[in-house]
Amino acid sequence: MSTPFSVYVADAAVLVTNHLEGLLVEAPDHWEKARPKQLIAAMRHGVLNGGKRLRPFLVLETAGLFGLSPQEAMSAAASLECVHCYSLIHDDLPAMDDDDLRRGQPTVHKAFDEATAILAGDALLTFAFDLLAQHHTHADPLVRSELVLRLARAAGMGGMIGGQMLDIGAERETPNADTVRTLQAMKTGALIRYACEAGSILGGATVSERQSLSRYGEIIGLAFQLADDLLDETSTPEAMGKAVGKDADQGKATLVSLHGADAVRAELAALVAEAEACLATFGDRGDRLRETAQFVAQRTS
Ligand code: IPE
Ligand code: IPE
Ligand code: MG
Ligand code: MG
Ligand code: MG
Repeated sequence: MSTPFSVYVADAAVLVTNHLEGLLVEAPDHWEKARPKQLIAAMRHGVLNGGKRLRPFLVLETAGLFGLSPQEAMSAAASLECVHCYSLIHDDLPAMDDDDLRRGQPTVHKAFDEATAILAGDALLTFAFDLLAQHHTHADPLVRSELVLRLARAAGMGGMIGGQMLDIGAERETPNADTVRTLQAMKTGALIRYACEAGSILGGATVSERQSLSRYGEIIGLAFQLADDLLDETSTPEAMGKAVGKDADQGKATLVSLHGADAVRAELAALVAEAEACLATFGDRGDRLRETAQFVAQRTS
């Protein structure tokens, strides 16, 4: 009997967490003078505090389509999780969403202080690119530079950060559904799409395979944020490990507030079907990514 999907995802999360644990250590590397204790402690708090590890999972799985082992894709996967954790640390700051709880624990600025949380986020972002540029990521420097370029674009002004800026604007002035889709594709979708591109870059995919995976990533990125917005309305802090009900409290427009929960549920089902269709070219090898699309849409935490 094959391993249930939830166990499979949890096992991959352990591998990713163990790898990150080994990287975020106090002992400086030989080119560093020191790693300040408080900075490393805050970085570890923001990274090693649980988390579904969905983005690194997608890197490992998409790379796996091309025959790469989890170990061969782990450096790129860990690098992406560092960017994601940095984005959460900064997203939770008082100047942004002002949240006290993340992954069931105090947010980094609560466990430490704001300045430390800002620096821990900055250090994780920088470290992500350090990791990607290292030869452990891939033997071919062209592959590494392509990963650096794509991650920079996914994380930057036209990607995640740009989306965060638009998201703040959406609290002040109610945007239309198209603007919400754009901001979500940027703030959440860009890193998830990159996760799937990273696997195809590492795996030496053809142009058409890479396009299919990139589209798959784009669709599940949207589905992921739609599920987040639904859960913000319907779930509990215990299940989510973070505050809920905040979008409505802050008057933040989401597709749930604009179209209603039922319409969003129907859209999620359509997105899963569309994501599955993108995997046709991979035949049975795409089965796990098909399950991932369902998992993303039906998640409860
Ligand atoms: C939370 O992402 C932020 C969003 C983009 C909605 P996740 O739900 O993947 O958070 P963790 O990593 O599992 O905590
Ligand atoms: C955050 O979106 C997306 C990023 C961190 C880039 P949210 O603000 O909706 O995420 P949660 O709900 O705090 O996890
Ligand atoms: Mg936010
Ligand atoms: Mg938030
Ligand atoms: Mg949210």
